Amino acid sequence: MKKKSPSLATRAIHGTKLHPYKGPVTLPIYQTSTYRFENSNDAVLYANGDPNVYVYSRYHNPSVEEVEAKLATMYHAEATVLFSSGMAAISTAILSVVSAGDEILSTPALYGGTYRFFRDVLPKFGVTVTYVDPKDLAACSALATPKTKLFFCESPTNPTVELVDLYRAIAEVKKAEKKHRTRIVTMLDNTFASVLHQDPFAIGFDLAVESATKYIGGHSDLLAGAVIGTKKDLKQVRQVAKYLGGCADPFAAFLISRSLKTFELRVQRQTENAMALAKALEKHPKVLRVLYPGLKSHPQHALAKKQMSGFGAMLLIEVKGGVNGAAKVCDSLCVAVNAMSLGGVETLVSIPVYSSHVNMSDAELAMHGVTPGMIRISAGAEGIDDLIGDFRQALDRL
Ligand SMILES: Cc1ncc(COP(=O)(O)O)c(C=O)c1O
Repeated sequence: MKKKSPSLATRAIHGTKLHPYKGPVTLPIYQTSTYRFENSNDAVLYANGDPNVYVYSRYHNPSVEEVEAKLATMYHAEATVLFSSGMAAISTAILSVVSAGDEILSTPALYGGTYRFFRDVLPKFGVTVTYVDPKDLAACSALATPKTKLFFCESPTNPTVELVDLYRAIAEVKKAEKKHRTRIVTMLDNTFASVLHQDPFAIGFDLAVESATKYIGGHSDLLAGAVIGTKKDLKQVRQVAKYLGGCADPFAAFLISRSLKTFELRVQRQTENAMALAKALEKHPKVLRVLYPGLKSHPQHALAKKQMSGFGAMLLIEVKGGVNGAAKVCDSLCVAVNAMSLGGVETLVSIPVYSSHVNMSDAELAMHGVTPGMIRISAGAEGIDDLIGDFRQALDRL
């Protein structure tokens, strides 16, 4: 009989340690940059690939490794590489796949940092990005070329909480692979959904990336990122990570390990709050629209039910009065905090044209579906009546 897999909550609390063992209950912090050799032969053993010899914390660190193993079990994946930030994870994972002359196929609605990396950095190294409209994923085959090595996407997208049809995207990339007889690595930024609500590997992606700064960290007190996938794919990511140097800090690893013990509780509560807040805000006369995948009014509600197991805790509202209206609401909030980032237990609000999409041209804003009156809300875990009351009083001032 197949042994039943422990639940996500159990895996997030215990990681791989679901067996009797002697030792600390919580994660020890190996706050060291380097490791003492028993004798010089250890250096030789390391050079020959002995995994039991520790050399230098940019390469490996026991605290970091334990969190990597925990995240891998949470994703039911073979391996994880932990990084110093989500952008370190994304840029390193991408640079481990592409070389000069290669092409990336991506959906256009992306976190601003990823989009700018595609626009401003990759072309300097001879890597170009072609965008496929998520409403026309059939175009993947025509847009891909024999040089296409990576398909990248984000769903739900930042900040407009739109979805990409992920099953369809994988199917279309497979067709393009067949047509061009090449491997196209598929990579999903799973930050908005988190592993609680979306399983990239069940959908068919090769690699998942997450800003662990957000739901994995969950308390707005650390920066980290993760790349999750097979041992084979991650071997290459780890190799490039060594030289780009975006390794995770052992103290951040400790904080993550602690945060993961409440991962399911937090994200579940945040998701419930997001739904209740979205429903309440939909009724407010100063709110032009609410975008939340859990609402029946969301144009992709059916798709959300198909590819996600929950709707997440990110929502977006557009208020009357454009950017001035949005600023007035954000400046009047007392419970919700006017700050960038997302995923923490405190509700955060930000105005995309002032934050993730600042200084973008009108054409770029249109491409990302961003308008001046938008407020992105990352629902926290506060009491829901306090949150609804706070948004109502702020909107009433408009
Ligand atoms: C969807 C998404 N991906 C990646 C990142 C980058 O993560 P980090 O800030 O940890 O580098 C962010 C940051 O906001 C994000 O929202």
